[in-house]
Amino acid sequence: MKKKLNIALMGSGFMGKAHSFAWTLVNKFFDVPYEPVLKVNFGTDEDITREVAEKWGWEEISMNWEEVINRDDIDIIDIVTPTYIHKDMAVAAAKAGKHIFCEKPCAVTYDQTKEMAEAADKAGVVNYLNHNYRRVPAVAFAKQMIEEGKLGTIYHWRGAYLQDWIMDPNFPLTWHFKKDLAGGGPLFDLSSHSVDLARYLVGEVKAVTAVNKTFIEERPLPGKRAATFSAGGEINSEKGKVEVEDASFMIAEFENGALGSFESTRFASGRKNYNTFEIYGSKGALTFNFERMNELQYLNLDDPADEQGFKTILVTNMTHPYAAWWAAGHVIGYENTFVHAVADFLKAVEKNETIEPNFHDGEKIIRTLEAAALSSEEKRRVEVSEIK
Ligand SMILES: NC(=O)c1ccc[n+]([C@@H]2O[C@H](COP(=O)([O-])OP(=O)(O)OC[C@H]3O[C@@H](n4cnc5c(N)ncnc54)[C@H](O)[C@@H]3O)[C@@H](O)[C@H]2O)c1
Repeated sequence: MKKKLNIALMGSGFMGKAHSFAWTLVNKFFDVPYEPVLKVNFGTDEDITREVAEKWGWEEISMNWEEVINRDDIDIIDIVTPTYIHKDMAVAAAKAGKHIFCEKPCAVTYDQTKEMAEAADKAGVVNYLNHNYRRVPAVAFAKQMIEEGKLGTIYHWRGAYLQDWIMDPNFPLTWHFKKDLAGGGPLFDLSSHSVDLARYLVGEVKAVTAVNKTFIEERPLPGKRAATFSAGGEINSEKGKVEVEDASFMIAEFENGALGSFESTRFASGRKNYNTFEIYGSKGALTFNFERMNELQYLNLDDPADEQGFKTILVTNMTHPYAAWWAAGHVIGYENTFVHAVADFLKAVEKNETIEPNFHDGEKIIRTLEAAALSSEEKRRVEVSEIK
């Protein structure tokens, strides 16, 4: 019999479902040391929280997050609330000695990420920041190929994370449009993922030059069910001010000499979750598009010149990373990446080991994003180290 660990899920929206899926499925596919128990789901709307809890089998619901975090019977705090409250919940969880699984972006400011990392270090708790795209098998395989030297010296990173879900001017002013709740627009929401992937695959960003742009300045206030990204929907006749950018483009200089670019927008018509990267090196290149997440494109410059070209690798073999699902060629999806993250997290908890990305990675990512915001505001190149 595996030891049981009681989970508290803090939030019951889009990510509430994705994480419920992961905690439910992890033991069925991966050899993990614990059996997670879906103990309590905190939410701000009692009806929605009850619906989610009943659907996914959370034993209890609560409307009081502080009480939940301080319960003696809870082992893991899983934070899936709007970004502004990640810090308060994570610091409280660390003080209560709980291990922390937290959604991205880490927090709304660099200062908050430092507080989170410090609190987790002091308490000695395992902390994980869910930039889940690292745990797409094709991305983890790209990392292996780069470590094996398949790309040689890396010259370029080109990351574009494009969506179109708010192009309708009547899309309501949810928390995603408030600077103090979200930290920023697509820069924080989407480029945080791309910066995480770039740090993972290429290296640390040294300096940025960025331009941010807001296309729609006011939006209708949300009705009750419009409070969640996944539910979309009801709006109010009254309007409020959009406080974040709708698109962000930046050029990045890496510490190792590579040059890169990051684009993120919620106004790329037809692009739904177009999270892509291209990496160009002296020996070859790799490209990835999350909308075809089981595939990796690889160019090998050692191939005879006349036969050179990108080939598609279907990353579903039993020898590829996270090969616990199905037979080769039986592709997996977005939700599986959350299971991979939970599996790695539980293994880290057993050994009380560091897992990546964590709050220290969050610090570096948010620092880079704040440098981009400052660069756009002051129309100049900003060294990441300028952000204190
Ligand atoms: N890794 C990914 O792929 C991914 C995708 C989407 C969102 N996210 C991140 O997950 C987090 C949650 O996003 P979401 O899309 O699930 O949001 P959501 O709006 O769908 O749900 C947020 C939930 O948090 C709770 N909540 C709402 N307002 C609150 C408040 N003021 N105080 C405390 N709790 C509150 C509610 O239960 C709500 O259901 C965000 O940080 C977001 O950036 C990650």
